[in-house]
Amino acid sequence: MHSIEQLQNIINKAIAETKYTAKPAELYEPISYLMKLGGKRMRPVLVLVSTELFGGDVLKALDAAVGIELFHNFTLMHDDIMDKAPLRRGNPTVHVKWNESAAILSGDVMFVEAYKLMIRVDDSILRKVLDIFSDTASGVCQGQQADMNFEKRDQVSIEEYIEMIRLKTAVLLAGSMQIGALIGGAEKDQADLLYEFGENLGLAFQLQDDILDVYGDPEKFGKQVGGDILADKKTFLLIKARELSKGESASELDKWLNKPDALPDNKVTAITSIYDSLGVRKLAEAEMENYVEKALNALDKISVENSRKELLRGFAEQLLIREH
Ligand code: IPE
Ligand code: IPE
Ligand code: MG
Ligand code: MG
Ligand code: MG
Repeated sequence: MHSIEQLQNIINKAIAETKYTAKPAELYEPISYLMKLGGKRMRPVLVLVSTELFGGDVLKALDAAVGIELFHNFTLMHDDIMDKAPLRRGNPTVHVKWNESAAILSGDVMFVEAYKLMIRVDDSILRKVLDIFSDTASGVCQGQQADMNFEKRDQVSIEEYIEMIRLKTAVLLAGSMQIGALIGGAEKDQADLLYEFGENLGLAFQLQDDILDVYGDPEKFGKQVGGDILADKKTFLLIKARELSKGESASELDKWLNKPDALPDNKVTAITSIYDSLGVRKLAEAEMENYVEKALNALDKISVENSRKELLRGFAEQLLIREH
């Protein structure tokens, strides 16, 4: 079995070797730009780890893994338009560097390129893999729409928030792992357990992303810190803060929401200090640890030798201390 670092290198090499049509440049340059900015390559690594977990050959999963990373980057390109995000991986977002039309269309063609790579899997599992991939893609869109709806909605429950992040983020981690498992020759029940691991890991991952959006180090995070606050995103932190705040802090919090003309720095500082005084960061961290625990329980149930699961255990624990 390979280490995470070795798998990252395999992925990065395959991504660097992937060629796209050259013309028109405005359509394809943004793809190379975003893909070259790197990122953690977490989803394709999870595809490969899942294939190896069941004794499969990573080279058989490489096209699918690159396809998943292309799909992920397509969702980021469109997400950054929707979230009005200026920065991605420490660099200008595609719609800022080019324009919104370029980011929409490049994203669209990335999705097609992702399908072209996915259909290279073995014929024996092709239909199953495409079913999972298509369900995953619909799920992400559903989650993204819920995320946008919630910006404008006053009351959102924790349950609704969890369902929204399950769709926008967790199903992609889960689907990546299920696809990797099928390529590795896993039985359906085993691939489903790995899906459960990925789904819970994905929930923890998005909770952590929401925490970093407020508390991250801007240098390391690579995205605009405070972006979620500025967009009135109904994150776990905001929902909990509204639940816990009373009297003055409740009206102070409400005063800052739905105020598009508020000075950005003032809004971020004010809401962050309300979060601090209510201690919502700790609560979000506890929720995140809960989901990592659930993920590890699903992993325990998988019928492969314990030592083969160490890599995924370590991966899940690393997630809790990431900075970007
Ligand atoms: C960002 O994903 C989108 C979320 C689901 C939070 P990553 O944090 O995996 O982004 P990269 O690919 O490493 O840049
Ligand atoms: C992203 O959620 C989920 C998808 C891109 C589908 P975020 O909007 O929190 O992701 P970042 O923080 O911009 O990476
Ligand atoms: Mg978003
Ligand atoms: Mg975003
Ligand atoms: Mg985020």
